[in-house]
Amino acid sequence: MNSKRKKIYEGKAKILYEGPEPGTLIQYFKDDATAFNAQKKAVLEGKGVVNNQISEFIMSRLNGIGVTNHFIKRLNLREQLIREVEIIPLEVVCRNIVAGSMSQRLGIEEGTPLPRSIIEFYYKKDELNDPMVTEEHITAFNWASTQELDDILAMTVRVNDYLSGMFGAVGITLVDFKIEFGRIWENDFSRVILADEISPDSCRLWDATTGEKMDKDRFRRDLGNVIESYTEVARRLGIMKGMPTVIQGGLH
Ligand SMILES: Nc1ncnc2c1ncn2[C@@H]1O[C@H](COP(=O)(O)OP(=O)(O)OP(=O)(O)O)[C@@H](O)[C@H]1O
Ligand SMILES: [Mg+2]
Repeated sequence: MNSKRKKIYEGKAKILYEGPEPGTLIQYFKDDATAFNAQKKAVLEGKGVVNNQISEFIMSRLNGIGVTNHFIKRLNLREQLIREVEIIPLEVVCRNIVAGSMSQRLGIEEGTPLPRSIIEFYYKKDELNDPMVTEEHITAFNWASTQELDDILAMTVRVNDYLSGMFGAVGITLVDFKIEFGRIWENDFSRVILADEISPDSCRLWDATTGEKMDKDRFRRDLGNVIESYTEVARRLGIMKGMPTVIQGGLH
């Protein structure tokens, strides 16, 4: 590993390093898995490698359909070059089927299809457990402007439509997902682009025929075979051929 470069931020799942040029960063995918605001922790060998490739695949596809995002290129098994953004402190959640916290909060059975996709916002603040907020809070506290929120909503809908189709085509149901956005500045003007990652850590993915979970709920709920499921998602998407053998050999 290149130990000379500067670490900008270390999160639960990724590390950000200074990039080779101004306005760029290197995003390193760790094997660490956390859930319930880091109350549950584990190291899942190979997770970082799989998520790096899945996120690369999805972000490249999204760039291709005009959903501008931070991904520039993959550098190696665990790292990708990205554009540095000023993160908007929101977790944007889009749901197609009731699951997880929505099921608990509203007492609706997990698996209930929603009559239409629902977008929710959570304020990124670990100390507060990422509380749910409305558009009113977001604009009142200047986390994002009304214009930025419009862009965020429009991009989220496009991501949902595209990914639902993409996963649907390989027999996977996109139940819900979480995305993050950030600002890039060009002179005095800013633009919102998609950032962070899209992977089985940030999506709920169910096998379309068996209903089997293929995402981070396998870790949250101790269902086992976490890496095997993530790898199966990658395999179905046609990426990282031969990866399972490499993972069995151990990756560092
Ligand atoms: N292009 C980008 N530029 C700057 N920061 C980014 C970019 N993409 C993602 N980030 C931020 O980098 C961090 C990625 O690390 P990780 O996902 O491990 O964080 P985390 O533990 O989930 O914590 P956080 O609550 O900060 O998201 C996140 O804080 C994310 O918001
Ligand atoms: Mg994160």
